[in-house]
Amino acid sequence: MIVGIGIDLVDIVRMKGVLERWGERFIERVFTEDEKEYALSRRYPHIHLSGRFAIKEALFKAIGGGTNPWIWKEVEVFNDRGGAPKIRLYGGLKRLISKKFITSVHISISHDHAYSIGQVVLEKK
Ligand SMILES: CC(C)(COP(=O)(O)OP(=O)(O)OC[C@H]1O[C@@H](n2cnc3c(N)ncnc32)[C@H](O)[C@@H]1OP(=O)(O)O)[C@@H](O)C(=O)NCCC(=O)NCCS
Repeated sequence: MIVGIGIDLVDIVRMKGVLERWGERFIERVFTEDEKEYALSRRYPHIHLSGRFAIKEALFKAIGGGTNPWIWKEVEVFNDRGGAPKIRLYGGLKRLISKKFITSVHISISHDHAYSIGQVVLEKK
């Protein structure tokens, strides 16, 4: 049964500006080491960081409150061998998800040159 959905759109140009202004400080605060490594391995890191940022926001929406928006790094997006994005949760956010009996978190990301979009679906068995 689907128990939550969330979607978020991120302006890639704005993300680029934030990265230019705050650089490493912003990255360290919001993204995990693996997310950073993946993005920096790509030609346009800010595009991939935008997609990951959209997923973090979409997840907070899907959960529907009860989360602290400062826990960015408790959400980690990674790609499987086929390139499909998957999610890992840590700490309090992981505990919150299991407290709500959510068994799967499905995500999808798309980018063009202007925007990244992230979608999250929460499922309960
Ligand atoms: C999967 C595919 C449709 C993505 O199309 P695209 O236009 O490059 O994708 P978008 O620009 O809209 O979005 C990029 C995001 O798609 C996601 N993505 C990549 N491969 C994916 C896949 N196989 N399944 C689901 N999502 C995928 C990633 O999250 C990526 O963003 P990220 O690199 O920042 O994580 C395209 O790569 C494709 O047709 N590949 C060939 C078929 C294939 O590889 N199939 C998978 C194995 S069965």
